[in-house]
Amino acid sequence: MTIPRVFVTRILPEKGMQLIHQVCEAEVWPDELPPPYEILLEKARGAACLVSLLTDRIDAGLMDAAGGTLKVISQMAVGYDNIDVVAATARGIPVGNTPGVLTEATADFAFTLLMAAARRVVEGERSVMAGAWKTWGPTLLMGYDVHGATLGLVGFGRIGQAMARRAGGLGMRILYHDLAADPGPAQQLGAQSRSLEGLLAESDFVSLHVPLTPETQYLIGERQLRKMKPSAILINTSRGPVVDPLALYDALRQRTIAAAALDVTDPEPIQLDDPLLSLENCLIVPHIASSNHATRTRMATMTADNLSAGLRGERLPNCVNPEVYR
Ligand code: DGY
Repeated sequence: MTIPRVFVTRILPEKGMQLIHQVCEAEVWPDELPPPYEILLEKARGAACLVSLLTDRIDAGLMDAAGGTLKVISQMAVGYDNIDVVAATARGIPVGNTPGVLTEATADFAFTLLMAAARRVVEGERSVMAGAWKTWGPTLLMGYDVHGATLGLVGFGRIGQAMARRAGGLGMRILYHDLAADPGPAQQLGAQSRSLEGLLAESDFVSLHVPLTPETQYLIGERQLRKMKPSAILINTSRGPVVDPLALYDALRQRTIAAAALDVTDPEPIQLDDPLLSLENCLIVPHIASSNHATRTRMATMTADNLSAGLRGERLPNCVNPEVYR
């Protein structure tokens, strides 16, 4: 029996790597940076599976470069906007992802960003490190209340709902905008539905929890930022291009809104000369919302499980294009 050849585009957490090595002959890209597209093309040739990350462009050309051998694409992420799923479906290739396991970690982190921005934690730390802490000051680094404030959730899927659970504990008023959401969980969590404009106008904190699609690209642009309160704070743990970065820069510089906290940027990584980096009221971290030991290990094992099932010709436990099985 020939052992299937698999290309893994980065070293995954150890448990996932062990499982992958048990079921195939895996070539693993050893660098910290993703393989360039030309290398991906070369490595895809004759591969039975690609194990990808959100930093890899997996398009029709790449699928065709495999030359008909590709049986499965297994991505270690819940989001898959880097993969041309329509092209995969047209070729009968199932695409796996890792939903569910990162819900709580991502919501924990979105709340971390919310609190850090509201209470100016990073600005405070920077001022201490710069030797600017001279005394206790009556107006020093005044922030905004979190308890009792209004939280607007754009997107009310798994992570949006996990945010609402946390917000309930802080006595926050919860609004959401999600035309596809089932009203049941919203009712249970005491969250009220609003139009996007209504939510932006009423919220003290706006937190984004939508996937990146053509409809959500630049969902938050100049017009939307103008609707927000001057004291409002924007939190983005979804995908960078959901927010227009130039419009955000203008809004933050002109204080149309008070602050932003971003786990994701457009592009990623953010360039060092990006104007957003010059703003004190913009907190930026490098796309780490799901990055805790337990979550990333679970994501890696789910990736391996999708890979094994795909190689055996079985239905993937988590498949984003189940129509391939019809
Ligand atoms: C995802 O899984 O899509 C996150 O952005 C990374 O954990």
